[in-house]
Amino acid sequence: MSGDGTRCVRGGGHGEHGVGEPVHRGPVLTSTFHLGRPEQAESGTDFYARADNPTWREYEAVVGDLDGGACTVFPSGMAAIAAVLRAFASTDRGVLLPADGYYVARALADEELAPLGVPVAYCPTAGDWASAIAEHRPGLVLLETPSNPGLEVCDITAIAEAADAAGAVVAVDNTTATPLGQRPLDLGADVVVASDTKALSGHGDLLVGHVSTAGPVHAERIRGFRTRGGAIAGPMETWLALRGLATLDLRLARQAENARAVAVALREAAAAGTVAVSDVRWPGLADDPSHAPASRQMRRWNGVLRFTLPDVHAVSEFLDRTTLVDSATSFGGTRTAADRRSRWGDAVPDGLVRLSCGIEDTDDLVADVLGALRA
Ligand SMILES: Cc1ncc(COP(=O)(O)O)c(C=O)c1O
Repeated sequence: MSGDGTRCVRGGGHGEHGVGEPVHRGPVLTSTFHLGRPEQAESGTDFYARADNPTWREYEAVVGDLDGGACTVFPSGMAAIAAVLRAFASTDRGVLLPADGYYVARALADEELAPLGVPVAYCPTAGDWASAIAEHRPGLVLLETPSNPGLEVCDITAIAEAADAAGAVVAVDNTTATPLGQRPLDLGADVVVASDTKALSGHGDLLVGHVSTAGPVHAERIRGFRTRGGAIAGPMETWLALRGLATLDLRLARQAENARAVAVALREAAAAGTVAVSDVRWPGLADDPSHAPASRQMRRWNGVLRFTLPDVHAVSEFLDRTTLVDSATSFGGTRTAADRRSRWGDAVPDGLVRLSCGIEDTDDLVADVLGALRA
């Protein structure tokens, strides 16, 4: 397998066109395609852009190569999660989700599926999934590791074995890790789902998501739902995401470098009593509670960390004083962003901040964050 940077640029044969064709093909902006005479109709040709189109195929080739599966692009991470829930959870066998995962996925299950009679159950990311699977017998186990915003980690391989024995499909929300950080399909999961709005596309200027599946049967199910459900990614967004994806390897390297430096600096300053920061968490730190399980299944770290300030006021002061940290939800972009997660209803302390490190210079970012916290 080629290296991460090579696969982000050329994975799945991306950009291999014939003589005279553009090296960088633009987005194909059409809703419909020439059909020819009825008797000429060939299966496999494009006919209507809700079913398939060349821009999706380019994106799906690269992302599928990175995930090691068959990729289906969606207009957002939530659209991708909705497709997975629709495909694999039923009134007979419901869904088991992380209790501390992305809150809108929980809201989707609670508010849209449970009223239809689909059983919805929860397990903490770092909890006992085997027991929860045995108790609830779900049709779908949806993991999120590292979780957002807690950055807790669960053992994908062990849970996949328990789920497999119980006849459940295992999907992993791989948004935080990205396919460079973790390949859940290699670890035994059946499905990967992600918000490519975050680091994968990486510039904070679009929404897109995807589902990758280990086998063609699941892929067929997901694609069929996309075509019939009609929640489809626009070619322009897909093309922009493809363009952003080319630099994922470089961005992730700087983001992880920045996260490590900020996490270490925060801990040192907290120990010296110069900042009122507690509970600094980044799975890449050797003594982080997530480090050991993450090291066994993750390929590399990313730029998302968290820390806790005494209260809401302290977070406001930090945001007022910083010049390099945007007060913004979402993560994985080029600009560093801080989000006080309890404002969205996450069951976390009021002062918990998720910090998504961007690609600014490390020294600048550390100085800015420490300066804003010390002031
Ligand atoms: C872990 C995780 N999964 C899914 C989503 C949803 O993605 P989108 O906003 O692209 O719909 C998010 C968004 O923040 C997320 O953090």
